[in-house]
Amino acid sequence: MSKILIKNIKELVGIDDGKRLLAKGKEMGKLETQKNAWLFISDEKIAAFGTMNDKKYMDLTKDDSAEIIDASGKMVFPSFVDSHTHLVYPASREIEYVDKIKGLSYEEIAKRGGGILNSARKMQEMPEDELYESALKRLDEIIAHGTGAVEIKSGYGLSVESELKMLRVIRRLKEASPLIIKATFLGAHALPLEYRQNRKAYIDLVVNEMLPRVAEEHLADYIDVFCDKGFFTPQETARILEAGLQYGLRGKIHANELDFSGGIQTGVNYNALSVDHLEYTGEEEIEALLPSDTMPTILPGAAFFLNMRYAPARKMIDAGLPVAMASDFNPGSSPSGNMQLILSMASILYRLTPQEAVNATTINTAYAMEISDETGSIAVGKRANLFITKEIPTIEFIPYYYGVNKVNEVILNGKRIK
Ligand code: NIG
Ligand code: FE
Repeated sequence: MSKILIKNIKELVGIDDGKRLLAKGKEMGKLETQKNAWLFISDEKIAAFGTMNDKKYMDLTKDDSAEIIDASGKMVFPSFVDSHTHLVYPASREIEYVDKIKGLSYEEIAKRGGGILNSARKMQEMPEDELYESALKRLDEIIAHGTGAVEIKSGYGLSVESELKMLRVIRRLKEASPLIIKATFLGAHALPLEYRQNRKAYIDLVVNEMLPRVAEEHLADYIDVFCDKGFFTPQETARILEAGLQYGLRGKIHANELDFSGGIQTGVNYNALSVDHLEYTGEEEIEALLPSDTMPTILPGAAFFLNMRYAPARKMIDAGLPVAMASDFNPGSSPSGNMQLILSMASILYRLTPQEAVNATTINTAYAMEISDETGSIAVGKRANLFITKEIPTIEFIPYYYGVNKVNEVILNGKRIK
């Protein structure tokens, strides 16, 4: 049983009693911390923490089986939880990115068979092992930037075999990686060109062919639909979400990125775990979300990278909603899984305080993966998934000093990584 004692922590950030499953409204601004702290890890879990002058700390130093880490000048944060990614993909798409710079919109690229369909063509040819190896490298990259849990979607397959291939890769990643991983089946990510004259046939394929196979092999935890202008309608989305629920898969859907598409309301109606993107969120959408158990999730990387409008995060929090923020790591609209950058964007572009931004990227994203009882804060009994920063002056410095990695050391499941 490995034990680690981290001592002289300048500030231990994101403490709670482990019972808080999410933070909403004003609560999002509360981030409990302890200065001059220690933290004890035993058996993969956070076993205890306190301040350096506790008597308990003196007792712990007598346990010479514990490895000691001196964190003088450094802070400890709960690992980021990234509740929305597409990080299993066949190839980068930087040529389309240049088309975008020259003026083509995301929708125009999609209409001419680029975008998601471009990835889907490459996916058909990609051997499973290569797909797995490339994704594993991306996991290493996000671990080094402080992520401790990640959701990964299918959706570049768009055929029975190709979707299953992606989901099998995600299953292998779950087995091999120290990260907590959840898999989401996104068969309805885009309509393949050959179904343009017969949309219903593709939805039938998703519901009647793909979904039963996915469920039979236990390949997914959730189901997703890109419910938006030019992609899938609220009616089509409702049908898919209903079918998913019959197999015990709750929705985590793409909604309201390109228009007031009705996606948010559809997600709420089917008790989706989260609705994600939300650039087009108005009063009606906020009203729909308020009484629900659905986590509104904003993806700052996508709006930034596509140079599109920003979701009204401030308004949503002020209305009493919780807000989560995830990376959307994917080759088309957000080619980065760096959650520290998301933290900076949360503050700079969405006017979240650094405290709100930390809650948005830890406990609230953990809620959006149903793991906030296990991770997303520093609490006794939670899994020891955390990172030690480089020497930094304040918590606020993390979003402020944007663009470089402030993580010095990563601990996942109570073990030092790297
Ligand atoms: O979340 N909006 C839909 N899907 C992804 C983009 C995927 C892609 O372009 O490859 C997103 O932004
Ligand atoms: Fe996405």
